[in-house]
This record gives sequence, C-alpha cells and structure tokens, in this order.
Amino acid sequence: MTAQLIDGKRIAAEIRAEVAERTRGLAERGVRPGLGVVLVGEDPASQVYVRMKTRACEEAGIQARDIKRSADIGRAELLGIVDELNADPAIHGILVQLPLPRHLDEREVTERIDPAKDVDGFHPVNQGRMSQGDATAFRPATPAGVQELIRRTGVETSGAHVVIVGRSNIVGMPMSQIMLQKEPGANATVTVAHSRTADLGAVTRQGEILIVAVGVPGIVRGDMVREGAVVIDVGVNRVEDPTTERGYRLVGDVAFDEAAERASWITPVPGGVGPMTIAMLLRNTVRSAERTASLAAAGTVAASG
Ligand code: GUN
Repeated sequence: MTAQLIDGKRIAAEIRAEVAERTRGLAERGVRPGLGVVLVGEDPASQVYVRMKTRACEEAGIQARDIKRSADIGRAELLGIVDELNADPAIHGILVQLPLPRHLDEREVTERIDPAKDVDGFHPVNQGRMSQGDATAFRPATPAGVQELIRRTGVETSGAHVVIVGRSNIVGMPMSQIMLQKEPGANATVTVAHSRTADLGAVTRQGEILIVAVGVPGIVRGDMVREGAVVIDVGVNRVEDPTTERGYRLVGDVAFDEAAERASWITPVPGGVGPMTIAMLLRNTVRSAERTASLAAAGTVAASG
C-alpha cells in the first residue's frame, strides 16, 4: 500500500471535543442542546445508528430524547410527534431515522420538520438554501463530514477536479453542491457519475478527489483510480464472511487494497466517513442551540430596550 490513511475516527473525535466545548459554553448561559431522535420499526441497522447517535449526544453534553414507535404507526401519529418536537423549546434538532416503513411518505415527514430544527439537512428549504450559497443552511451530515475530512487532511480542493459517484439525496447530490461552493474546502470542478454513466472508469480516472457513495461493494476497482488521487469511500456494505463471529464484515464501495496502491490518501471502511456523520450531526445540533440562544438574547435586549 502506498496511500496514507485518512483517520476518520481521530478527526471525528476532534470535532466531538469541539462540540463538547461549545455545549459547555451554552451551559454557562443556562442552555442544554436537545435532539429529538425518532425511530420507527425495528430495522437492525437503524437501531444501531440511533443507539450510536444518542450515546454520542450524551457524551457531548447534548440531551437526546429517544422516541421509538412500532412499524405500524399511522401517518397522523408520526406527523403529530414531529409537530410536538417542532413546538418544544427544549428541542433544537429533530432527526427521523430513515428509511421509514413503506406505508409512510418520507418526503412528507421530512418536510414537516421545522427547517430551523432540521439538523439532518434533508428539508428542501435547507437543501435549496445550501445550493444557493447560504452558509447558514444546515447541511446533511455525511457530505458535510466528507468535506471536513478532506479539509482537515490538508488537501487543496480549489480548482481540483472532484468526481462523485452516486446521486442520492442524502450524499451524492448535496456533496456536489457543497464542493461547488465558493468557500475553503470547496471551489472545485465537479463531475457526478451514476448508475447510467457510460464507461465509469474513464470518468473516475479523471478525479483528483474521488468520492464514492453508491452502496455497491467494490464497484470502484484499483484501475479506476487516478494515480495520486484522494479517495473517499462513503459505502458501508455488509458482505458474508463465515470466518468472523458475526458472519459478515463491513466493506466499502472501493476495492480498498487495489485503490490504496494508486491513491495518495484513502479512507478505510469502517473508520473513515462513518464516524464523521455522527460528529457533524452533533455539530449541527449545537449550532442550532447556539442560534436559538442568540435569538433569545437579542429578543430580551429588544424587549427591554
Ligand atoms: N439513514 C441513513 N443515514 C441517515 C441520516 O444521516 N439521517 C437519517 N435521519 N436517517 C439516515
């Protein structure tokens, strides 16, 4: 292997420590950030994610309010839960874990969340504001985390050709918008490839920075990586492995060993992008609480003055 590893665990721990520092600052002003976490059904991966998110909240001084409902919850009841969280002044961020059971409309639920509490950054108001260059819009945690990994590794993005594989609403699409922004850690030339791209390798080989988020194990092989590229693997896939205790292991979308022969920097799976997603969610939540606290302070001054 010639590539250097991008240590997502270490960088995520740095960000979590920064968040904890900010929650201490808020505590001095009498504010405890609150995150409402809604989990519907028993999807095992979602249960793991939600547990990791709530534990990380507690460690960073954020109060997580877990709301769990069975998979047969009705539309009105779920929307009612979102409405209550929207109205609750102790809640600064709301997260409805996706995917939802099929009978529920994810778009409707996402749009019900107050954009000011949409720390997942999935609401169309936040996505629209972000794409228009509004730095105050909440950004989805995974692509924001990828940008932060690249920035903290010291990789220059300005003028670089960034190739993104995948166009999901959660990662690929917002990732392309972020890397286009006029800001440090962005200002890139962006190409988005996807399932209909002809000759995927010819496109990925152009990427000085290659970000892969499709959910297909090993779809990017070593010969699809440009010599010296920075490779960010967002994929987390379970593949059967009878030699492990659990019967499976986690692999990314990139054939790691092959790609590491050509890349200059590469993220591992696990331990690369994954830990960043949670760190960025915490950062969005503390930011939301800071914003609310500042607005409240300004309101007090205005009312008394
Ligand atoms: N499911 C997979 N990733 C995410 C995420 O970042 N947020 C939510 N709410 N659900 C998800």
